[in-house]
Order: sequence, then structure tokens, then C-alpha cells
Amino acid sequence: MKTFAFASVAWLLLGVVNVSQAQRETSLKVVDALRDLHPAYQQLRDLVVNAVAGAKINSSEVIYNFNMEIASRKESFLQTAIQSEANVLRQVNGQAVTVDTSCLGFLRQSVDVNMNLAGVSFSNCLNNVDASLSSEVARIYTELQVNETSFVNLSVYDVFRGQNVFVNPQTIVDRLVERFSSLQQAPVELVGELTELVDAFAARLGGVQAAYSSCLSINDQLLQNTLSTALQQLQQICLGTLLPASSTSDPTEPTEEASESTSAQTPEAETVVPTENQPEPPTPGVVNAL
Ligand SMILES: *[C@@H]1O[C@H](CO)[C@@H](O)[C@H](O)[C@H]1NC(C)=O
Ligand SMILES: *[C@@H]1O[C@H](CO)[C@@H](O)[C@H](O)[C@H]1NC(C)=O
Ligand SMILES: *[C@@H]1O[C@H](CO)[C@@H](O)[C@H](O)[C@H]1NC(C)=O
Repeated sequence: MKTFAFASVAWLLLGVVNVSQAQRETSLKVVDALRDLHPAYQQLRDLVVNAVAGAKINSSEVIYNFNMEIASRKESFLQTAIQSEANVLRQVNGQAVTVDTSCLGFLRQSVDVNMNLAGVSFSNCLNNVDASLSSEVARIYTELQVNETSFVNLSVYDVFRGQNVFVNPQTIVDRLVERFSSLQQAPVELVGELTELVDAFAARLGGVQAAYSSCLSINDQLLQNTLSTALQQLQQICLGTLLPASSTSDPTEPTEEASESTSAQTPEAETVVPTENQPEPPTPGVVNAL
């Protein structure tokens, strides 16, 4: 009786062992699958780090280009303003002694005040740029706070959740294989997403730049108007006469290079004397009272 009981238990145990042998094999395969997965995860981590760093570097370059562009527009605005002022002052200072000096003095003050006002407007335009740039930079850096975990499930081990490696190893292996194939897709998507972010950032900065340019243009136009008014006042109020546009001060006239810098501006006053130095097509909106 006892012997029989023992025998049957032994037989049962043996049976269990036989049944689970294949399953144990599968359980071990889980480890193989995990081993396969780890290099893929490492690659992905590296790739995410590199892609994000690349996106940050690209954004940094976008910012650099933006700043260079702003600087060059700033410079051309300043040059135009300074040149225009010089042209008007040349007219005011070149009047005959018969012209009322106090009237000319008022004109000089007027020109000076309007230059100062242009300076105010210049700062205003830049303040707008500054505010927009700061918020755009903050935004792109927030957007680039992509890390591995936000992008893909980097926990390899969550596939074990709710599963038992000895009871249903095949499920786990299936999940790991599935995870592996989703890892393969991930890089392409990530790089695409990051590139979109950087491109959108560059486009938004382009908008800021355009707004800055138009701010400068409007202010430049205002300055040109006031300077042009000063020239009219010179004639109408101070009873002066406009000097011919020419290189009065330099006797060595047809210096092709000098003409570029001294008289490359467009005529505001009617006195466009076709002098020896004909500059190349002048920049639009730029005054030349020479
Ligand atoms: C990774 O990103 C997720 C979601 O964006 C965020 O919750 C988590 O704090 C980030 N981890 C680190 C280390 O930055
Ligand atoms: C990560 O896995 C969890 C559950 O396994 C899922 O809910 C979540 O959507 C996954 N996240 C990503 C980014 O795949
Ligand atoms: C960064 O710029 C390089 C070179 O232009 C480009 O190949 C890469 O795809 C860019 N990366 C991102 C995330 O925009």
C-alpha cells in the first residue's frame, strides 16, 4: 500500500519534470532574448543622446545665424542714419553767411533730436527681438528635453510584469521580440521629430527677424522723413539754398571706392547733379542729399 503510494508520487513527479523540461528550455531562452535586447537598448540610448545633442547644436547654430543677421541689419540701419544725418548737416553747414545762423542752429538741433529719437526707436526694435528670442530659445530647449524614457520604454524588465518566467516564458520571449522590433523603428522616428522641432524653431526665429527688419524700416522711414523735412525747412524757413550734390570736400573726385562710401545714397533733395562719381544703384530707401 505504502509502496504503491510512493511509486505513484514518484511517477507523478517524474511526469511533471518531463512536462516542464521543454518549458525550462524556453525559460532560458528568455535570458537569451534579454541578452539580444540589451545591445539594442544601448544603441538606442546612445542614439537618443547623440540625436538630442545634435538637435541642440543645430539650434545653437540657428541662434548664431539669427544674431549675425540682426547685427548686420542693425549695422546697415545705423550706417544709413549716420549717412543721412551727415548729408543734412552738410547742407546746413554749407550755407552762405547771409543765411540766418540762429535759424540754422535750430535746424541742427532738430536734426540732433531726431537722431536721438531714432536711437530710441532702434532700442525698441531690439527689445522686441530680445523678448522674442528669449522665449523662443526657452521653448526649443524645453522641447529638446527629450530623454530616452520619454521616447521609448527603456525598462526592459517591464515585460516580466504579470508574467512568470517558469509558467509562461514564451509570452515573455514574444514580448521581448516585439520590444526589440519597436526599438529598431525608434531611431528613425526620433531623428525625424527632432529635425522638425529644430526646423520649426528656425522658422519662428525667421519671423522674429522679419518683424525686426520691418520695425527698423518703419523707423528708418520716419527718420528720413524728418531729415527731409529739415532740408525743406532749410529752404522754406531759413531761406537757404541746397548745395549741389557733389564731392565738394575732396578734390580727387572720381575715386570709385570713395564714391561708394560717401555718396552711395539716394537723392532726397531734388539736387541730383550727375557728378563724376555715379554710384552704383543705390540702396532703396536710402537718402542721398549729396
Ligand atoms: C525624461 O522625460 C520624462 C517625460 O518627458 C520626464 O518625466 C522625466 O523626468 C525625464 N527624465 C529625466 C532624467 O530628465
Ligand atoms: C511604455 O510601456 C507602457 C506599459 O508597458 C505603456 O503604457 C506606454 O505607453 C509605453 N510608452 C512608450 C513611450 O512606448
Ligand atoms: C543637424 O544638422 C545636420 C547638418 O545640417 C543634419 O544632418 C542633422 O539631421 C540635423 N539634426 C537635427 C536633429 O536637426
